[in-house]
Amino acid sequence: MRVILLLGACLTQAAIGLAVPLDQQNLTTTAEATWHLPWFWRKETPFPEWLREFTGLSEWPGAEPPYIPMDFIDMGKVPAFEPYSQNQCERVPREVCSFSCHACLEPDDIYTCRKLSQTFDDGPSEFTDELLDHLTHRSTFFTVGVNVVRHPTTYRRLVREGHLIGSHTWSHPYLPQLSNEQIVAQLQWSIWAMNATGHHYPKYFRPPYGGIDNRVRTIARMFGLQAVLWNHDTFDWELNIPSSSRSIPDILLRVSEWNNHGKGLILEHDAFSTTVEAGIEVSHLIGDDQLTVAQCVRGIDYIQEYQD
Ligand SMILES: *[C@@H]1O[C@H](CO)[C@@H](O)[C@H](O)[C@H]1NC(C)=O
Ligand SMILES: *[C@@H]1O[C@H](CO)[C@@H](O)[C@H](O)[C@H]1NC(C)=O
Ligand SMILES: [Zn+2]
Repeated sequence: MRVILLLGACLTQAAIGLAVPLDQQNLTTTAEATWHLPWFWRKETPFPEWLREFTGLSEWPGAEPPYIPMDFIDMGKVPAFEPYSQNQCERVPREVCSFSCHACLEPDDIYTCRKLSQTFDDGPSEFTDELLDHLTHRSTFFTVGVNVVRHPTTYRRLVREGHLIGSHTWSHPYLPQLSNEQIVAQLQWSIWAMNATGHHYPKYFRPPYGGIDNRVRTIARMFGLQAVLWNHDTFDWELNIPSSSRSIPDILLRVSEWNNHGKGLILEHDAFSTTVEAGIEVSHLIGDDQLTVAQCVRGIDYIQEYQD
């Protein structure tokens, strides 16, 4: 099955859907397929010496990164409950506070903003530069580790132009489906990709598909990460699905309704040319009076910024 998935990544975007096993279809129908890695994927960020020393490895890992034990990760403190997939919400107990299943939030989750503000997930991609050419306000980007390593020049442009960057995991899995060790690996490798490329340690983290519960939260907090969700979803990724009726005017209509209230956090994606086009139009509609997630909560941008 693994082999089929990897082969799928070599094909065109339209063909990916055909090559993906059935039990993965829910994840890929979101059209968020930019992290599907061919075996020859280009790793543009050099694997740094400090990471070589720490991990004993010499190359960036693939879509399933290895778990590297760290002294501040105490697995004994992680609440025990069965992993579940995106379509198994019926068996998820309310006590685990799942955002994707029950829209449950904990007090330290960020999900709104005092000014209506855009956020962009899944990049950097080959389309991110086009978005940056048009944005005239600071925004927030939740980047996928493998894409950080693939597009380091765009990543550093984000930093240079004053945007805030948070983690969106290493390879974009639905985290509640993974073991504790796999969740740690997804977070640690995404942080290392960001540090190797942008010389900083992130403060904010957005779970792919909103997949967060108290098991994922406990692990994220050990890294010092604060979860960021959203309260306005544009469903912009549907622009990339041929059978979908989603259109940019339809997105703009909804955004103008949210804009009347002047508050909130909008979920968008810089992964496709269609979603970037929508992002540019949404930014024209809302205007420049927007905040980064850090500004929304009057928080810090990064836990640590290193010299480069
Ligand atoms: C997910 O996919 C399975 C089969 O692949 C389907 O039965 C189920 O309804 C889907 N769930 C959602 C939420 O789309
Ligand atoms: C971040 O990178 C610096 C080198 O620029 C390194 O010394 C430091 O250990 C790294 N920290 C983490 C947490 O990755
Ligand atoms: Zn995503």
